[in-house]
Amino acid sequence: ASKPPILLALNWKMNKLPSEAGPWAKALQEELPATQAEVAVLAPATHLAFLASDLYGSGVAFGAQDLSAHASGAYTGEISAAMLSDLGARYVITGHSERRTMHGESDDTVAAKARAAQGARLVPIVCVGEALEIREAGRHIDVTLTQLRGSLNRVDGDPSQLVIAYEPVWAIGTGRTATAADAEEMAGAIRKTLHELYGEAASAIRVLYGGSVKPDNVREICGQPNVNGALVGGASLELPSVLGMLAAL
Ligand code: G3P
Repeated sequence: ASKPPILLALNWKMNKLPSEAGPWAKALQEELPATQAEVAVLAPATHLAFLASDLYGSGVAFGAQDLSAHASGAYTGEISAAMLSDLGARYVITGHSERRTMHGESDDTVAAKARAAQGARLVPIVCVGEALEIREAGRHIDVTLTQLRGSLNRVDGDPSQLVIAYEPVWAIGTGRTATAADAEEMAGAIRKTLHELYGEAASAIRVLYGGSVKPDNVREICGQPNVNGALVGGASLELPSVLGMLAAL
């Protein structure tokens, strides 16, 4: 099967103001180089309506960084898949390591969120990845694949509408990047597990790498056989570095 197109997913985390989102989106479109890669901006919920209007018809997708596992009802403070979908969002991150560690999200919760996303025609970007002590103990593959299986429990929508992001926790925001070989080793192991879970259709699932991706390493990482893009934090905030990554791809 041919490789699915590269996805450059920009995770703004809790940065920028809502009023900054629209102008940023417009500037991105004006300067967007011709590229085969798909670009998606994953912004705080307060920014999404601005992105919906300013990215409309641009080919640049947008999405959220989290969602509720519940469909609707008495869940104060939560945002549902249907709400995101109604705005025109295409993607939603589930189980980012920051939510797993700071908000106690379990694999079960992450799977429930991914199911809710697929149920509303959103593409979940399901995040997995090991902590430093796990890697140092040589258990990173085992631990990450166990997390992957748990986070995909009963996630059985169209596999082409599913993205996995491998983000080793020790490489997030640290400037310490996994080598392209490390990324490929894990992406290959993830791919094998996806084939066990979804059969042939798993070839359509994009496996991203995240952790200190920037213009000078994005090409090598995304060029690995089992890597189909990147989930970018820090380098996603400034337009020049986003354009630099796109130009490098
Ligand atoms: O989700 C993206 C991420 O956690 C990586 O962050 O700042 O290392 O690119 P950063």
